[in-house]
Amino acid sequence: MPVIAVDGPAASGKGTLARRLAEHFGFHWLDTGLLYRAVAARVPDGAPDQAIAVARTFDAAWLADAALRGEASGRRASQVSAIPEVRAALLAYQRDFARQAPGAVLDGRDIGTVVCPDADAKLFVTAKVEVRAARRLKELRDAGTQTIYAAVLQDLIERDRRDTERAAAPLKAAADALMLDTSGLDADQAFAAALALIGPQMI
Ligand code: CDP
Repeated sequence: MPVIAVDGPAASGKGTLARRLAEHFGFHWLDTGLLYRAVAARVPDGAPDQAIAVARTFDAAWLADAALRGEASGRRASQVSAIPEVRAALLAYQRDFARQAPGAVLDGRDIGTVVCPDADAKLFVTAKVEVRAARRLKELRDAGTQTIYAAVLQDLIERDRRDTERAAAPLKAAADALMLDTSGLDADQAFAAALALIGPQMI
């Protein structure tokens, strides 16, 4: 079955892009960040050692929780996602998801490198950190969260560092990834650029 892997840092636009690609091709879509968020949400504060046991009981029903979308959840997810056994425990679910007919789009950090190294198309979506911080700030404010630009920027810089420097499946473009910088693009333009890179015939 055709698979599209979409990787990139926080607030790069990869989630919106992956969802739109899935709609366009009629494929299933999985935001893999939600898996790490769902595990992190079930680990008591200050007890990261429990994350492995939690990940081993992962249940897709956990993904429906709207509270997982918040910033605190993303930060905690980036901590538990650095634990290799947590990543290993979540691998089978992601690979099974990718095998579904008529095809699947998965977005995350390591889809093209680890989860689906044989994906038919791999996109690596980036944007300047200042642009990503401005986007995330708008998202948070639209959702009613009070915050300031400097705090959002600082959080993204820290998360980028943790995601790229970790030993287990770090954030990095696959050698055969198509690079897409969305710094100057809105969602429609990013989608058009992605389609042009992938080519029209995925199916
Ligand atoms: O877009 P944003 O980074 O805010 O959220 P996310 O994609 O839900 O990812 C949250 C955290 O989960 C990231 O900072 C990564 O540390 C981790 N993650 C990962 O390690 N591998 C993935 N395939 C997806 C997310």
